[in-house]
Amino acid sequence: MQIESDFLIIGSGIAGLSYALEVAKYGSVNIITKKEDTEATTNYAQGGIAAVSSKEDSFEAHIEDTLKGGAGLCNPEVVAKVVEAGPRCIQRLKEIGVQFSTRHRGLKSRFDLGIEGGHSHKRVVHAADFTGREIEKGLLAAIAARPNIKVYENHLAIDLLTQHQLGGKRKAGEKTRCWGAYVLDTRIEEVKTFTSKITLLATGGAGRVYSHTTNPEIATGDGIAMAYRAGAAIANMEFVQFHPTMLYHPEANSFLISEAVRGEGGKLRLKDGKFFMQHYDPRRELASRDVVARAIDAELKRGGDPCVFLDITHLPPDFIKERFPRIYQRCSELNLDITGEWIPVVPAAHYICGGVRTDSDGQSSIENLWAIGEVASTGMHGANRLASNSLLEAVAFAEFASQDSIRKFKQLEDKSLPRFPDWSSSGVFDQKEWVIVFHDRQEIPQLMWDYVGIVRSNYRLDKARERLGILSRDIEAFYRKNPVRSDLIELRNIATVAELIVKSARMRRESRGLHFNLDYPERDDRKWLKETLVVSPEGEE
Ligand code: FAD
Ligand code: SIN
Repeated sequence: MQIESDFLIIGSGIAGLSYALEVAKYGSVNIITKKEDTEATTNYAQGGIAAVSSKEDSFEAHIEDTLKGGAGLCNPEVVAKVVEAGPRCIQRLKEIGVQFSTRHRGLKSRFDLGIEGGHSHKRVVHAADFTGREIEKGLLAAIAARPNIKVYENHLAIDLLTQHQLGGKRKAGEKTRCWGAYVLDTRIEEVKTFTSKITLLATGGAGRVYSHTTNPEIATGDGIAMAYRAGAAIANMEFVQFHPTMLYHPEANSFLISEAVRGEGGKLRLKDGKFFMQHYDPRRELASRDVVARAIDAELKRGGDPCVFLDITHLPPDFIKERFPRIYQRCSELNLDITGEWIPVVPAAHYICGGVRTDSDGQSSIENLWAIGEVASTGMHGANRLASNSLLEAVAFAEFASQDSIRKFKQLEDKSLPRFPDWSSSGVFDQKEWVIVFHDRQEIPQLMWDYVGIVRSNYRLDKARERLGILSRDIEAFYRKNPVRSDLIELRNIATVAELIVKSARMRRESRGLHFNLDYPERDDRKWLKETLVVSPEGEE
C-alpha cells in the first residue's frame, strides 16, 4: 500500500508539529508517530524555553552565552539566527494557546522568567515545571483544527525511501534523494509505504542508548540511524549531554529534577550535608551542565555513594508547590516531601547535541530531506547545549525549514512520485529466538553507561567498539532473517547510534564540552576546532 502526501513528517514532538502547521498552508501533510501523538520527549520538558524577553537581557548576551556553552563548536551564524527568532517563536506558541507562567507587576503581567546553568540573564519562559506538556497540548490542538494534516499514531518508520529501495544505483555525481519511508503499523504489524515530495525527520533524541537516562522510551535514535543508513552525514555524535539531576529512586523511572530548581537557589550536598560545587566552578550550582555532571560523578566515585542531594528546603513550601507542582507531586507519590527533605539525585543521559548534519535551514545532505529538533546537528549547540535552548532551536528551525522546503516543494509540485516496491518479507521466517533482542537491549545501554559515559578513556572506548561490533553484526543478521517488529527495529537503531557515538568519540583526540577523555584531558583548538563527521558507505560519492 502506497500512501502519498506532499509533506511527510516523522515525529510528533515540538519540531514535527511546529513544522506541520507551517507547511500545511501549501500542501497535504502526513505525520507518522510511533506511539500516541503526545508520546514525545517534548511532553516531558520541564524547565522552559530560552528567549530574550526582558529589558535587562539582549540578543548579544544570549548569543554569547550559547557560544560559550558550545565550547568553540557552535556555528555563530546559526546561533544568532535562532536567538533572534526567539521572541517570534514564543509569540507563535502563545497565539496557538500555550499558556506560559506570568508574574503581575501593578496592572502589567510579564513572563515569569527562570534562569538555568550557563545563562547570564533570566530568560527561560516556562509553564511552571510542565512547559513541554503545555506546548505539546497547544500544538496538537492546532493540528487537529487543520483538515489537511493527518496524524498516524502507532506508525514506526523503519527506513527512508531513496534510490536504493528503487533498486537503482546513483549515477556518478548524483545526490541521494528521499521520497518518504517504509513504516510499520505496529497495531496490525503491516509495513506500509509512505511517499512524499518533502520528508522531515523530527524523531527526537537517543537517551535510551544509555541505561540511565531522563528520556522517555521513544528516544531510541531512530531518525539518526535511518538517516545514516540512507547515506546522510552525521555530525558530533560524541557530544552526549548528561543532566546532573535525575531523581534517584528505584521506582522513579527516569524522572528529571529540573535545572530550574537550582535556578531558584537549590544547592547540591553530599550525604554528610557538605556543599561541594564551590570546589569545581565559581558559578557553583549554575555552572554549565557538563561541569556540574562531572563534579557529581567525581564526588560519587570518590565517596562511593550512590547519589548526591539537592536541597531546596530553604524556600517557602507554598512557593515550591506553585513553581514546581509536577516535581512536588511526583516526589510526594514516592513519599518524599521536597519542602522538608533533600532530593536524592544522580546524573543521567539527557540530550544528544550531535545528529543528522544540516545547513542553517535544516536541510540534510540528502535531497528533499530536512531534519530538525533533537535529531539534527544544526550548529546551534556545538559541544554542549545550554539549558532550554533545545525547545527554542526546534521551533526556530521549524520556521526556517518550512520556508526552505516550501520553496523546494513548489519546484516539485507537478512532478509525480516514483512507485516503490512493497516491503518484502521473502526469505524471512520466525527463528523464535527473540531472547537475543531482550538481552542486547539490556546489554548495549549498560555498556554505553559503563564505557562511554561522562568520563571516557581510549581503553574503554576500544572495549565498547569491539563489543558493539559483535553485537551489531548479530543484530543485523537477526533483522535480515526475522519478521520486523518494533523492538527489533529499535534495537537495531540503538546499536547503530551507539556505534556512531563510540566512533566519533574515538576520532576526537581532545576533551571539549561534553566529551571528556582521560587520555586527552586538554582542549586542542589547533587541531580540533571542527566537527566530527561520519557517513555510511551508502552516502559516499
Ligand atoms: P521529540 O519531542 O522527542 O519527538 C520525537 C517524536 O518522534 C515522537 O513523537 C516520537 O514518538 C517520534 N518518533 C521517534 N522515532 C520514530 C520512528 N521511528 N517512527 C515514527 N515516529 C518516531 N529542552 C528545553 O529546551 N527545555 C526544557 O525544559 C527541557 N526539558 C527536558 C526535560 C526532559 C525530562 C527531557 C528528557 C528533555 C528536556 N529537554 C528540554 C530537551 C527537549 O525536551 C527535547 O530536546 C525536545 O523536546 C525534542 O523535541 P523533538 O520534537 O525534536 O523530539
Ligand atoms: C531542565 O528542566 O532541567 C531541562 C532543561 C533542558 O534540558 O533544557
